[in-house]
Amino acid sequence: MTKNIVVLKNVHKIYDPDGVRVHALRGIDLEVKEGEMLAIMGPSGCGKSTLLNLLGGIDSPTQGNIVINGIDITTLSDGEKTTFRRDNIGYIFQLFNLLDFLTAIENVALPLLLQGYTMSAAMEEAKMLLRQLGLGDRIYHYPNQLSGGQAQRVAVARALMTHPAIILGDEPTGDLDTTTSLDIMSLFRRINRQNKQTLIIVTHSRTIAEKCDRIVHIEDGKIVREESVQSAKEEIA
Ligand SMILES: Nc1ncnc2c1ncn2[C@@H]1O[C@H](COP(=O)(O)OP(=O)(O)OP(=O)(O)O)[C@@H](O)[C@H]1O
Ligand SMILES: [Mg+2]
Repeated sequence: MTKNIVVLKNVHKIYDPDGVRVHALRGIDLEVKEGEMLAIMGPSGCGKSTLLNLLGGIDSPTQGNIVINGIDITTLSDGEKTTFRRDNIGYIFQLFNLLDFLTAIENVALPLLLQGYTMSAAMEEAKMLLRQLGLGDRIYHYPNQLSGGQAQRVAVARALMTHPAIILGDEPTGDLDTTTSLDIMSLFRRINRQNKQTLIIVTHSRTIAEKCDRIVHIEDGKIVREESVQSAKEEIA
């Protein structure tokens, strides 16, 4: 039986900046299997990014437990969370979050440098991955010299660089045209199959969501519906 790599139990998140209380997640129960591709959908403001930030250990729940790869991350200190994130999670943010003062290849190599790779080894790996993503002739460009789709692919490369067990993508294909979006989804599916990596992505696009194995619908901080995607399963077979 495939193990659950992610288990959420009764997760709540309440934001309270300056006394304005927002109950962003209201009791999320969710299990994700190792090697699954999961899409999260729902209207703007329903709590999707909040959920992803909790999964990535970037923020903490107000209540509930989040167990990832057998570790309850809600019990970790900030330092332990940083290490946990570095070793287990690849994150593609809603806004690409590339570092403006680094070139494409430097942005992609950075996670490996943080893991202790030498500069030349990290740059070599980064170059290979960028080539695979069709960016071989853009590796020395800075983010502001790239198109939106190219910058997004650099962000994808950076998240994949350390072969994390879990890849979290907040609108990883947002703002891209359909062809480029589907290319990125094919890449996700390929690495998902090759390495059994688990992918959890937020998307507004039904077409993109249907490339995953399962779709979870969130409304107003709660999971309201789930569907398994038949065509995705057939493609795997
Ligand atoms: N740091 C924060 N402080 C206070 N409130 C927040 C914070 N982050 C999010 N919220 C609120 O929590 C709710 C959920 O926000 P979230 O960003 O998770 O939505 P979302 O589903 O990702 O929306 P979108 O599709 O527009 O990206 C919103 O009402 C938002 O205003
Ligand atoms: Mg969001």
